[in-house]
Amino acid sequence: MVLKLLILTKLVGLSSSACPSSKDQEIKGLCFTFMPYQLTYNASRNYCHHNNPVGFSNLAYVPDKETSNYLAVYAHSAFGSAAENFWIGLSRDPVSKSLSWDNGFPVTYTNFGSHVGKNYFSEKISNAKWDTLGDNDKSYFVCSYDPAVKSTTQSVTKTTTTPDSSNCQVGGPQTVLFAYSNDLNPFIVMDTLQRSSLDSQNVSFAISRFDLPQPEDIAYFTTYNQAMSYVSLHKPNVSLGFNDTTRGSNVLDVIDMFYNNTQTPCGSFVIVLSKRYPNTLDISNIVAKVRQRHGMVNFLASNTPSGGTQSRVLYDLSSQTNGVYAITRDTSFSSTIDYIPTRERYPIYAVTPRVSGEGSQILPPMTVLVHASYLLSLSIQSHVPTNNVKDVELYWRNPSSTNTGYFGMPVASWGFFDFNSDGTHANLAADVYNITINYDYTNSDVEVVQVRFYSSSPTNYWMPYSD
Ligand SMILES: *[C@@H]1O[C@H](CO)[C@@H](O)[C@H](O)[C@H]1NC(C)=O
Ligand SMILES: *[C@@H]1O[C@H](CO)[C@@H](O)[C@H](O)[C@H]1NC(C)=O
Ligand SMILES: *[C@@H]1O[C@H](CO)[C@@H](O)[C@H](O)[C@H]1NC(C)=O
Ligand SMILES: *[C@@H]1O[C@H](CO)[C@@H](O)[C@H](O)[C@H]1NC(C)=O
Ligand SMILES: *[C@@H]1O[C@H](CO)[C@@H](O)[C@H](O)[C@H]1NC(C)=O
Ligand SMILES: *[C@@H]1O[C@H](CO)[C@@H](O)[C@H](O)[C@H]1NC(C)=O
Repeated sequence: MVLKLLILTKLVGLSSSACPSSKDQEIKGLCFTFMPYQLTYNASRNYCHHNNPVGFSNLAYVPDKETSNYLAVYAHSAFGSAAENFWIGLSRDPVSKSLSWDNGFPVTYTNFGSHVGKNYFSEKISNAKWDTLGDNDKSYFVCSYDPAVKSTTQSVTKTTTTPDSSNCQVGGPQTVLFAYSNDLNPFIVMDTLQRSSLDSQNVSFAISRFDLPQPEDIAYFTTYNQAMSYVSLHKPNVSLGFNDTTRGSNVLDVIDMFYNNTQTPCGSFVIVLSKRYPNTLDISNIVAKVRQRHGMVNFLASNTPSGGTQSRVLYDLSSQTNGVYAITRDTSFSSTIDYIPTRERYPIYAVTPRVSGEGSQILPPMTVLVHASYLLSLSIQSHVPTNNVKDVELYWRNPSSTNTGYFGMPVASWGFFDFNSDGTHANLAADVYNITINYDYTNSDVEVVQVRFYSSSPTNYWMPYSD
């Protein structure tokens, strides 16, 4: 208690403005992220390395006594009065018994308590002392990073982009762009919007009818009902369309315009009902723009396109923005929208492995912070028919518990081939999961698979964009 009062007095006037996220605390030039979730040591470390919204961080580095004391005080307010301890980045090698910090710095200062026989260290909130807990024990945790160092080098995927921390943080208000090709049947568009869960989401709406020789402005609405009545007055209309299979879709202009608009909040996302391909190949500018705004682009795409030549660019755009590209029959759009991220729309895992022939790959691990139901979406290749696919199976396993699951697309045994994706809901406990994909394709082409898990709540979680 004495310690707390002493520190609280000292804390007055301490600024956190040096940290890119306003939620993080600065202590002597380092930034600290307090995570009010209880995970194992390994899961906590995995989160700090890969999923901290500010980019790469470490489990907390505690270089001196003042930092240890400040952390205990901040942890008390961040984790509540019932919380007892939190993981820091110190661990002991089980074989050599040597101590090391997660950030690789030498161990010069320590503040041991009386229970130090295990390998992973946590700090006690009541006295700022460091004790060990077991491999499978769960605790709150704190990440740390140096705000002056922009580190991307230690991340899993080589193409990982560090989020642009300049005032773009997810978790605030969102706008969804619902865009539909004028080449679609009007009934399909209306039915798909009605069957989506967008009517019950806390989002604003942007609506665009595209694939018109005279492009229309995007229309903005604050409620679902307004958006719905606008769509019903602007249904697809053949007499306004391109009438020409060689014309490319202008869907990329619409997406560009949406993210160009400075009123579009950070974390806004796109759902496109697509019928025609673009004729453009280069999407690098638009991918950069979507990523900078922490956006996500999803497609429901027709298996019978009405024109355009570049069938692959839209798939790549969704792959590179943590979205989903689901090809299906037009008449199945309204059921397929179930596994497009509309309700569960915060990616907690988005990996895009390249596969070929028959085989198995271990994918990067997935950290789940909160026990909940998550949307799993799986797209097995960028094109139909899928009669080259026998089976694709995704497994998630936790090494130390019974948290395990499986989702498969045994396409050959289903016997229909005009769709490329499927989805389900998975109930996942807070943990870190090993993810494995097993696949069996009859051809030797390289196919790109989209593996995505989405949360319905904006957790403090960053899924880096990758290729
Ligand atoms: C934690 O991670 C380390 C390094 O990756 C590994 O050696 C260890 O076996 C893991 N411990 C548990 C309990 O999974
Ligand atoms: C809807 O979102 C806004 C902005 O994020 C938030 O302030 C508001 O509390 C939310 N409303 C509900 C009912 O969740
Ligand atoms: C389709 O567009 C034409 C030309 O603008 C218009 O005359 C017609 O009423 C529209 N049809 C419907 C169903 O809106
Ligand atoms: C497209 O074709 C319809 C009917 O065939 C016609 O009414 C319309 O004027 C044509 N539109 C354009 C832009 O050529
Ligand atoms: C978006 O903004 C850029 C640069 O300001 C501009 O070049 C581009 O034409 C805009 N895109 C659209 C579709 O308006
Ligand atoms: C999980 O992955 C780690 C590292 O790749 C591995 O050592 C461990 O055996 C895996 N556990 C399971 C249950 O697959």
